[in-house]
Amino acid sequence: MLTNIIYIAVFIILVFVLSIAVKAITRGVEAKQIIKEDKNLESSKIENIQNVEVINQIKELKDLHDKGILNEDEFKKAKEKKTILKLEKISMFYNKRQILNNLNLDINKQEILGMLGPNGVGKSTIFQIITGLKDPSFGKVLIEGIDCTNIPIYERATKFKLGYVPQYGGFIQDLSLLENLNLVGEIHIKEKDLRNAKIEKIISQFEFDSLLKIKAKHLSGGQKKKLVISMSLINDPNILLLDEPFAALDILTIKMLQEIIVNLQSFENITVVVCDHQARDLLSCVDRAIVLSNGKIIASGSPDEIVKDSSARSAYFGEEFKIN
Ligand SMILES: Nc1ncnc2c1ncn2[C@@H]1O[C@H](COP(=O)(O)OP(=O)(O)OP(=O)(O)O)[C@@H](O)[C@H]1O
Ligand SMILES: [Mg+2]
Repeated sequence: MLTNIIYIAVFIILVFVLSIAVKAITRGVEAKQIIKEDKNLESSKIENIQNVEVINQIKELKDLHDKGILNEDEFKKAKEKKTILKLEKISMFYNKRQILNNLNLDINKQEILGMLGPNGVGKSTIFQIITGLKDPSFGKVLIEGIDCTNIPIYERATKFKLGYVPQYGGFIQDLSLLENLNLVGEIHIKEKDLRNAKIEKIISQFEFDSLLKIKAKHLSGGQKKKLVISMSLINDPNILLLDEPFAALDILTIKMLQEIIVNLQSFENITVVVCDHQARDLLSCVDRAIVLSNGKIIASGSPDEIVKDSSARSAYFGEEFKIN
């Protein structure tokens, strides 16, 4: 009887000690986790502060320019290095197939960046990750210094004024050309007079007068492309993403579009990211180009530099390629 009582007492003491030990271990793990989260929070805070500083620096530079303290050249040079769009350690898997591999890309304010690379390398995927249409498997998208990886598509587009021309589609088939323009106009411009003025400007810029009533599905391939490009400009975007804008366009329309892109950069301070397989057309209107291969950026530089780059030549241009 006594031994039974002793056994039970020892058992109760053991359970008690064990539960204290388990609690202590759990608290230790929780504490470590909290410290780790704090550190992460702290480093992301520091990163965001640094990025906000960059935006403020640009504003300060613009003030100096507006007051005439910096001339056009000095202003352009000073803000050359200000990042507006940053892809940080982006990896993308479709099922188990890796498309993008730890990709880092800084795009500067008011830069026209060309993106080149063979079919299937992940160019459209990059645009979809920037707009939020696809979530990266790993990594972050920062716009104007703000981590927007988890900001939904519509909020991202309006908050950061993103304009996007997808590789395919981008309009409503059964609406006329004018109805498509009005639809996007009504989403972005509340004031009716402003909206109508903007749409009229686009109609004359893109020479749409004779096509206004035609259903979008009955437009030619090039006319459809022009419609989508014009729709992307209605909200006066800060960042314009163009996925193969030159495909299906005739030579004169390509020229018109190149002029629009360069004018947007000069007069509207817009940043443009454009990809296309018409490498010569693309290189003639960009400040910098990158070449993608096997999920990574293998070359980056001015149009002249990139066509001379040996990795870019072997992965994309081929040995015979010349700009002119
Ligand atoms: N939803 C998806 N599911 C599975 N694989 C996909 C999906 N979307 C894209 N891919 C694959 O990802 C790769 C990259 O596609 P992406 O469209 O980004 O290429 P791209 O560089 O734009 O090519 P292109 O020059 O032909 O337009 C391709 O191999 C494609 O098959
Ligand atoms: Mg594509």
